[in-house]
Amino acid sequence: MKPETKINRRREEFPTLASGIHLLSHSLGPVPRAARESMIAYYEAWEHHTSEDAWATSWWEMSTRAGDRIAGILGGAPGSVQIQPNASIALSSVASCFDFNSSKRKKIVTSALDFPSMEYIWDAQSRVGARVEVVASDDGITIPLERLLKAIDDTTCLVALSHVSFRSSYRVDAQAIVERAHEHGALVLLDVYQSAGAIELRANEWQVDFLIGGTIKWLCGGPACGYLYVRPDLQKDLLPRLTGWVAHAAPFDFAPAPMRYPDSVRRFAQGTPNIPGLYSALPGLQIIEEVGVIRVQEESQRRTEWMIDFALEHGWKINSPRDVKDRGGSVMIYVGDGPEMVNRLGERRVFVDCRPGVGLRISPHFFNTDEEVQEAMAILSDLIS
Ligand SMILES: Cc1ncc(COP(=O)(O)O)c(C=O)c1O
Repeated sequence: MKPETKINRRREEFPTLASGIHLLSHSLGPVPRAARESMIAYYEAWEHHTSEDAWATSWWEMSTRAGDRIAGILGGAPGSVQIQPNASIALSSVASCFDFNSSKRKKIVTSALDFPSMEYIWDAQSRVGARVEVVASDDGITIPLERLLKAIDDTTCLVALSHVSFRSSYRVDAQAIVERAHEHGALVLLDVYQSAGAIELRANEWQVDFLIGGTIKWLCGGPACGYLYVRPDLQKDLLPRLTGWVAHAAPFDFAPAPMRYPDSVRRFAQGTPNIPGLYSALPGLQIIEEVGVIRVQEESQRRTEWMIDFALEHGWKINSPRDVKDRGGSVMIYVGDGPEMVNRLGERRVFVDCRPGVGLRISPHFFNTDEEVQEAMAILSDLIS
């Protein structure tokens, strides 16, 4: 392995790490110790204030503040992120902005490597006039960039892809896709659930139109919330049909319809924000901000590179891209019986998961030591032989 970079792994702040080798950041990141105090602070705010006080003093603004912090991690400006219940709702909010039936642009370009919510939600839009084109993958691992670009034409309304695939860790070329889509007058949505917090994102520089994701994985925030980034200069053109009173310009007027949207990203809200979720997510966000995503990415690439070399030397099949620029933070290693191997690794205190047809999904994060990564791979070698 290349020499260790200087990084504060902050291991003592993650109690879960004492119970074994946690390589599951693509699924459930470990809880930061500070989340306990944060959740207690939530309880105390609820206990000591009347509900109106708690809303006035902090809860109402909390979603905006959390959104701005997530925007920073995405490489976006303050005011570009609205907290959502989860990533699927964030995607549905975007879908509800289009009127496929009355537009000449009916085509949604997605890919075979996206998360199933993507497929389900766009497929459901075909009932209201959308035409979905799913770009195929020949190997189940990658999709040639040219093939993705070729699918984008003047009938395309939106290109909606995973930035990093949950299935293979394949990373698409965001900049090239945005450029091609914008040349054809189409918008771009990237699902960054598997990249935010692991890979440096540049929402602003890419000029990407939408990003969706959530807190549970690489952001160490638990199953707290999703988020939706909308390019600031695009926001005012969109009127999501998936809406609610919190998205109104003056929610406390409790005015009758029609809906009046605010000139802010809050137009993509729906109802009451999940306040305990936000309390639980903030400590993880803070740690990622302090460690720095650029450093996390350097560490991730150094270790995933070593893992792939190790796997290939052992003759294992890698179901992730070989080239670091095409990859996110996970390495997928094919094994015949995934669930059985996950159990056997779990018995040896190595925590990973598996997906059908993919094999093991293994994800070192900044808090893992090099020794842990090496030990996990040695145990896997022991179990495979
Ligand atoms: C790439 C990707 N998108 C979306 C999701 C699901 O997000 P949510 O459950 O918040 O809708 C996941 C979760 O595993 C994922 O990996």
